[in-house]
Amino acid sequence: YRNLRIALLGAGSVGSQVARLLLEQGDELAARVGAGLELVGIAVRDVDAPRDTDLPRELFTTDAHTLIQSADIVVELMGGIEPAREYILLAINSGADVVTGNKALLATHGPELFDAAAQVGAQLYYEAAAGGAIPIIRPLRDSLAGDRVRRVMGIVNGTTNFILDRMDTEGDTFEGALATATALGYAEADPTADIEGYDAAQKAAILASLAFHTAVPVEAVYREGITAVTADEVEAAKRAGFVVKLLAICERLTDASTGIEGVTVRVHPALISRLHPLAAVHGAKNAVFVQAEAAGDLMFYGAGAGGLETASAVLGDLVSAARRHVAGGPGVGESTHANLPILGIGAVNTRY
Ligand code: HSE
Repeated sequence: YRNLRIALLGAGSVGSQVARLLLEQGDELAARVGAGLELVGIAVRDVDAPRDTDLPRELFTTDAHTLIQSADIVVELMGGIEPAREYILLAINSGADVVTGNKALLATHGPELFDAAAQVGAQLYYEAAAGGAIPIIRPLRDSLAGDRVRRVMGIVNGTTNFILDRMDTEGDTFEGALATATALGYAEADPTADIEGYDAAQKAAILASLAFHTAVPVEAVYREGITAVTADEVEAAKRAGFVVKLLAICERLTDASTGIEGVTVRVHPALISRLHPLAAVHGAKNAVFVQAEAAGDLMFYGAGAGGLETASAVLGDLVSAARRHVAGGPGVGESTHANLPILGIGAVNTRY
């Protein structure tokens, strides 16, 4: 059968696993798709940089433009805003579908990319952009598309969940738990994006946009990190039957002061009853708890990070994109038809 040409942009911890799995399990995936999946190249800044896995050197190139223009599907795993944004637009306008895990880009330039894709009938897949391996993008976008979501509460940052869990279970201080998280490789050398809630805010913007069919930019997300959470507070919460979690909360509600119904999206430490399923999310794991009018309560749980785990979500997207190529189906743009007002509400309802 026909071969689909796959271009990979970036070979970091996720990208190198995607390339390895594609090379090792390509035949199995091809059978599921009904077309070959040929990795035609990997665009990187430095061909000789050390990688997590051994990959054939001849796949690497620094010429991203030529690679993108030769591909049926472009998988962007380089991260950051530029040149990822430029490359994705080039891919879309060259007739390729795009798979990306770039939460920062989607949370800031999502509408621009979705519009560009809709104009040419291309599709953008981004299951890896929030919750790592956890299937949460498609459930919100497709499985629950016939329902009305009221609230999404997510533990979407593994580093902060690890730190708060250590404080809860070991009685550790914030500083002590952060040092452990760094030593174990969960926290980056600069952990600001995690502990100040920026990473969670980007993921919250993506989840809210899907849950409420409303474009929510990351600037509209109220954000508080966990740096001010003390060992005493965690201990007091524990005695009262609660656990402190950094939650990304996306809610459809009515602003008490204005009476306007809209959407509020916020990231802040909150008290979760120890009986709530989110209280059982330990270590660096992630989970997303969804409350929908008809479906009721749902919870999605698993690894929110990790090269291999996140590669699973990327490859699932790649299979979907490839199946669409084989079927020749039309592209569907991002649904933001509702465009509810975004209510500027800070940390409310901090106990669940
Ligand atoms: N730094 C993130 C976390 C990983 O700790 O969850 C991927 O988004």
